[in-house]
Amino acid sequence: MSKEIEDHRLFNHSGNQPFAEVLARHVSRRDVMRGGLSMAAASMLSFGGAAQALASSGAQKTPLTLAFEAVRGSLTDAVVVPEDYVAQILVPWGTPLNQSDSWQSDQPMTAERQATSVGMNHDGMDGFALDTDNASRRFVLALNNEYIEQDALWAPQGGPTDEGGKRPAEESRTEINAHGVTIVEVEKGANGHWSHVPGSRYNRRLTSATVMNLAGPVAGSDYVKTRFSPEGTQTRGTNNNCGHGVTPWGTYIACEENWPNVFVNHGELFQDDARIGIPTDKSRYGWDTSAGDASEQNDEFARFNITPRGEHAEEDYRNEARTFGYQVEVDPYSDALAVKRTALGRFRHEGCWLGKLEAGQPVVYYSGHDARNEYVYKYVSDAAWDPADANRPGEEYDRLAIGNKYLDNGTLYVARFHADGSGEWLPLTPNAQTRDGRTLAAALGLAENDLAGIIINTCDAADLLGATPMDRPEWATVDPASGDVYLTLTNNTQRTGEESTPTYTNGGESLEQVGVGYDLAPTNAANPRANNEAGHIIRWRESRLPNAFNWEVFVFGAAASDADNHSGLTEMNQFASPDGLWFDEREDGQGILWIQTDNGYEGVTEYTNDQLLAVVPNGLDDIQGTGPVVNSSNQQQLKRFAVGPNGCEVTGIFATPDKTALFINIQHPGNWPADGSELVQDATVAANGQVRPRASTVVIQKRDGGPIGV
Ligand code: FEO
Ligand code: CA
Ligand code: CA
Repeated sequence: MSKEIEDHRLFNHSGNQPFAEVLARHVSRRDVMRGGLSMAAASMLSFGGAAQALASSGAQKTPLTLAFEAVRGSLTDAVVVPEDYVAQILVPWGTPLNQSDSWQSDQPMTAERQATSVGMNHDGMDGFALDTDNASRRFVLALNNEYIEQDALWAPQGGPTDEGGKRPAEESRTEINAHGVTIVEVEKGANGHWSHVPGSRYNRRLTSATVMNLAGPVAGSDYVKTRFSPEGTQTRGTNNNCGHGVTPWGTYIACEENWPNVFVNHGELFQDDARIGIPTDKSRYGWDTSAGDASEQNDEFARFNITPRGEHAEEDYRNEARTFGYQVEVDPYSDALAVKRTALGRFRHEGCWLGKLEAGQPVVYYSGHDARNEYVYKYVSDAAWDPADANRPGEEYDRLAIGNKYLDNGTLYVARFHADGSGEWLPLTPNAQTRDGRTLAAALGLAENDLAGIIINTCDAADLLGATPMDRPEWATVDPASGDVYLTLTNNTQRTGEESTPTYTNGGESLEQVGVGYDLAPTNAANPRANNEAGHIIRWRESRLPNAFNWEVFVFGAAASDADNHSGLTEMNQFASPDGLWFDEREDGQGILWIQTDNGYEGVTEYTNDQLLAVVPNGLDDIQGTGPVVNSSNQQQLKRFAVGPNGCEVTGIFATPDKTALFINIQHPGNWPADGSELVQDATVAANGQVRPRASTVVIQKRDGGPIGV
């Protein structure tokens, strides 16, 4: 069930554009990306960098087949998995990291307790091996805590409070500590149950108050000088971390998504504040209203009010929001300060998805800006990948120094999708040429070589280059054998018909205006459905031509009975609003594409809660390599694997290297897990009465201990 924490300016425009032509263009050119696939010896380094070389022979391969029985839709307070699988709760919100004492259903949360307990609303996550031999039994879990459920957090006292417009400092501090990232060692016991390791040296929290370094083009620039960091080299906290990334050198990337609303500016907005949507009336939780409390230390609350008050930036927090909107690199093996990698752009980063990795080639990351009619980006490192930098699980050394090498110097691009199935990457560099023939720096009113200014104004820079506005880009994932990139476009109710006229934010009249972005945007080839409530998944492959790619729509979300069920979905796989996505690499260069949903589209919510589906993309026909898109002739290949409890969204996904345990997250459940006190329990049991809900990781295993899905 979709839960909005960002003001998406809800606006239900029904464009009713005839769709047949647009669809015909997609389905008739299924072959755009097929053929010419060579099985390069890939070195995709998943699971925190435990290297797995793929077989590179062209020998006949055994087709990978999904062997589980698809589950029906479900509308219950429990997780549903196929018959021969089990599912358990692991590290629900509030789990104390350093003690083995249990959670109490009426447990009052405090700032101090929350600072050392698992945060709220689990999202992107990954596992980091401690030693390669035992990586499937014991590892460090890094987990985003995207945002908070105030009703659950403050349940014992009846909800959050506000005294005359001021939030109590202790409440603000607790909420700040419930956000961020949780790092916790987990292990599988002899009974097959997973649990956390209380007191492990790896256990720690990063919250919206934790000191972090800035690196890359923006670090040390005038844009980020604050009273806290007059040098512009540090900030505090990471917020609203949604999807995630991993690096081949064994670090975790927490991505800052819906962060603008934790700030407020009652004065004049910077252009970038306006473009990204910093509120002018009040912040989301009112943490800024706790400023001036006798217990406040070092402006811990005042910093969320970015209204300029001093004479100079170093005297106030006008630049505080400019220290957010980044990809945040965290070393899960040490307690080193996290680093905000500004070279990868500043926007609402959904995630950070590693491209195909090859020795001697740049390191590539993809990221989407999850807001209606925003863009898809790609970062390409200057440094070429050196396999000697690959993670050495569990060893102690400075991984963030390797991050400096690959993530601080590179080029950021934004995507333009053409109607013929081709696409191009447009570089966001100061001297790039805008559509009207100016340099990007000049068009943004920046000094000639001001790369920091380009990054601060990433969204306006992308406007000026003519990027394609998308239907809310969420997760992406890469098939390491083919290099195919899959990206979910979750939905967009501000997508209007092909012939409609775009409108702009902030009362603007043109996209070229700085501080102004798209409000309503007409359909385009890559986002072809007006009022796209059900979303779709797109896939592309980089071209051999520089800065070029080829793309196609892989599957359209829909209810089976919908007139625009263009991918021919049935009751047993209908879905809408795809969000999480993971290419689960198996043997012989094959793999399972897992699709998770965060759906609010009635056509599907009436039938089922949010879900997890699976498909083997290169099993969609008998041709080796990239198969066709999902269509009415291959429905049996797209199968529903699990369904979440009422009210939740299903997100976050990875598996142990041996593929016997699949980890997913259940975010913002309504009435789950069933036992209000236990930390480890069966996820498939429904509560008897109302419980205080807790977001949690869920571990899914086969009863016979075999690999998941096959
Ligand atoms: Fe936090 Fe875009 O999902
Ligand atoms: Ca603009
Ligand atoms: Ca998401």
